[in-house]
Amino acid sequence: MNKSAKPLSYPSFPSKMLHLAIIIAGLAGFTLGAHIAFLVGFDYSLGKGYHAYIQSHGHIQLIGWVGLFIMSVSLYFMPRLGHFKIEITKRVKYISFFITIGILLKYIFHSALPYYTHVSWTSTITFLTLLSSVCIFIGILIYLSIVLQIANGMKNQLKDPTKDIRLLFIIMILGWILYGSAHFILSAILHINSQTILLPNWNLFMVDIFIYWIILPICFGVGLRAIPLFMRLPSIQWNTLYFSKIYFAVVLIYFGLKLGYQFIDNGQLLLPYLNILGFIKNMTILWFVYQLDVIIKLKVPWTDTQKEEWIPHKKESRKHYPDYGEFGHFEWLIKSAFIWLVFAALLDAYLNIALLLHIPTELSKDGIRHAILLGFTTPLIMGMGVRMVPGMTGALRLKNPGTVLWIAVLVNGAAISRVLPMILPSNILDMIPNGYEIIMPLFGVSGILGVAAIWLFYFTMNPVLKGKRLPLPKSI
Ligand code: HEM
Repeated sequence: MNKSAKPLSYPSFPSKMLHLAIIIAGLAGFTLGAHIAFLVGFDYSLGKGYHAYIQSHGHIQLIGWVGLFIMSVSLYFMPRLGHFKIEITKRVKYISFFITIGILLKYIFHSALPYYTHVSWTSTITFLTLLSSVCIFIGILIYLSIVLQIANGMKNQLKDPTKDIRLLFIIMILGWILYGSAHFILSAILHINSQTILLPNWNLFMVDIFIYWIILPICFGVGLRAIPLFMRLPSIQWNTLYFSKIYFAVVLIYFGLKLGYQFIDNGQLLLPYLNILGFIKNMTILWFVYQLDVIIKLKVPWTDTQKEEWIPHKKESRKHYPDYGEFGHFEWLIKSAFIWLVFAALLDAYLNIALLLHIPTELSKDGIRHAILLGFTTPLIMGMGVRMVPGMTGALRLKNPGTVLWIAVLVNGAAISRVLPMILPSNILDMIPNGYEIIMPLFGVSGILGVAAIWLFYFTMNPVLKGKRLPLPKSI
């Protein structure tokens, strides 16, 4: 062994990666969404670039905002969970490098593509769009190389089925492989056929893969370990492994059927089964939220089941929470996230039933998708960010905990104004005086609220990401 080699330790928190995620969301992901929503909401001409902007916005939000957050937290969390010391500094830099280049190329060239129709331009620009997907796929593969190395080296101490979240991580790994490779293939088709957008049906299929194979499993996994502690919820007494197996089976069959539906000529025949499976998928999600008990707190918190005698401290923690207010009202973000998840699952379940029984419905998939991505995922990231990351970076607390409540207000305002116009049926709009005149401008400002929320989140997290211990705020 090289004598100068440092002994292995647990990786430090990849602050720069999270920093990048927020900057990308603030400069590219949310702003593109805000631009599109503003055009639609205030009835401006949508222009040639409309569909390409939508696809760039979706992809940048998924990979840049959500993806980089998931990567940064899991690279800190997983080695500790598996008691596996590992050196990852260089590889973390490469991941950030490739994903940033990939996103830059996507942002610039995919958005520009519809405006350059001459053949000499098209082939160069579609090639650069393809290059973007290659860079992102390389970033994903480097990330997965670390995750697999950790999984291999995990000491098998997770025998307790209430704590075993490994299957959820495996689903997430499969999700990354599916999403990264499918995005590459779609971009190659775009280049070969000189298209201006990726094949829309397949693109949305990939978006669903990202939601159900990456976002939800990792939220379930990390949520199960961290949320009960932060929110003083009941300790996990139910069989997590069993739940993971059911979830895996359901999404496997659901997406298998969906694949069949997209591929085969008479795929319509699969629709009833697809809706039944979709309904079961939504019930599984609702069951998880019920068991976590995060919204109404019906069950006894884990602190009440502790055997040790309670020793009074000089300072009392916040009522119902184990902290002293140094993370602000982070519970507003986390609770509202789960309320949105329940709302989205109920709406989607209703859509499944309506389609199965041929009940006419105006519910839009786009509204449900944003209920999950903007209503659930974004506040959850923000809530976990302000509550969990200060401990990971060594800052230990927020500099300005008071901003957290405003982040919650802004992001929920953005979600309400983005989702409601997409799901309110026309008979309800007819009943509201000037319903149509109000609803579209509401949609138009949703993005501006989202951009404000993300920048406030940035200013709240920036001191934390510097990694220095922060002084206790004066209010505490
Ligand atoms: C306030 C913030 C947001 C606004 C204003 C916004 C706006 C939009 C709009 C107008 C569309 C086009 C819908 C259509 O097909 O007609 C869209 C699509 C999409 N958005 Fe957002 N969005 C926001 C936040 C988010 C977030 C946080 C995510 C992900 C984390 C996200 C992911 C997507 C995806 C995946 C699509 C579908 C893209 C496609 O069709 O390829 N959005 N968004």
